[in-house]
Amino acid sequence: MHGDCLQLLPTLEEKSFDLVVTSPPYNLGIAYSTFKDTAPRDEFLAWCKSWATEVKRVMADDASFFLNIGASPSNPLLPHQLILALTDGTDPLFTLQNTFHWVKSITINTIDGQQISAGHFKPINSKRYVNDCHEYVFHLTKTGSVPLDRRAAGVPYVHKSNIARWGHTGGQDLRCRGNTWFIPYDTIQSRKGERPHPATFPIALVEQCIRIHGKAETTRFLDPFLGIGSSALAAKFQKNSAFTGIELDPDYLEIAKERLKTSPQQELF
Ligand SMILES: C[S@@+](CC[C@H](N)C(=O)[O-])C[C@H]1O[C@@H](n2cnc3c(N)ncnc32)[C@H](O)[C@@H]1O
Repeated sequence: MHGDCLQLLPTLEEKSFDLVVTSPPYNLGIAYSTFKDTAPRDEFLAWCKSWATEVKRVMADDASFFLNIGASPSNPLLPHQLILALTDGTDPLFTLQNTFHWVKSITINTIDGQQISAGHFKPINSKRYVNDCHEYVFHLTKTGSVPLDRRAAGVPYVHKSNIARWGHTGGQDLRCRGNTWFIPYDTIQSRKGERPHPATFPIALVEQCIRIHGKAETTRFLDPFLGIGSSALAAKFQKNSAFTGIELDPDYLEIAKERLKTSPQQELF
C-alpha cells in the first residue's frame, strides 16, 4: 500500500494480523527521500505511540510484533526510550516478551586459538565511542505469553550426545538459538549501482522472526514501514502468501515491487 501508515492502518480490519515485523525511521537524522527524520525526541515518541496503537489494534491476540531499532553512539538512549514509551505506564500498550540483538559484525576467539571476524565492520573515527555493531529487535506482544516456535529458528547441536542426554531436546537435533543473532547486511544492487535506501534490515533477520513466530505459510504478516521491501522478500522466501506492506515513498515502493518480482525463490538463513 502506498501512503502514510498512520492513515492507512485505521483502514485495516481489527485483529487481522498474526505477525508484524518492522523498522520505523530511527529519528537519527537519516536522509530518506521523503520522510524527515529529525523530529524533537518527545514528538518522535508520541508519533511512535500513535502508529503502535494502530498496530496493536490490527494484531490478533496471539500475534507477535518484532520492532527493529538501532541507536547511534551520540544517541544511545533512543531504543530504550522507545521501548519504555510502548511498554511502561499505567496502561501499557505492549509487553516486552523477548529482546533480540541483531549482531552485524563480530570477532570471536575459539578455544583452539583461532580468531574469526565476520560481517561488515563499519569504522567510526572517534576517541569517545567504540564501533556500534548491533541493533535491537524487540519482541512485543499483547500478553507476554505468546507461544513461539523456538526451534524453527534453532541451531543443530555441536555435541550430538547432548540430544539424548537432555530430555528437553525431545530427540531433535536443534536447540534454541537464543537472543543474539549474527546476520550481516544484504548486498543490494540497484539500477544506478548505489544502495537505493539508507536504512534497510537484512531479509534473513525477518526470516528469523517469521520462523520464531511459527506457521509461516498462513501467517498474516504486516510491515507498516516497508522501505524497499526486505520483509516482503522474507515473506516470499518463507512461502508466506498473506503479506501487507505500507510505504510513504513511491520510489521505495517501486523498488520493493521490482525486488519481489525479480528475486528468485530462496532461503537465506
Ligand atoms: C527504516 S526504513 C525501513 C526499511 C525497510 N525495513 C527495508 O529493509 O527496506 C523506514 C521507512 O519508513 C518510511 N516511512 C516513514 N514514515 C512513514 C509513514 N508515516 N508511513 C509509511 N512509511 C513511512 C520511510 O520512507 C522509510 O522507507
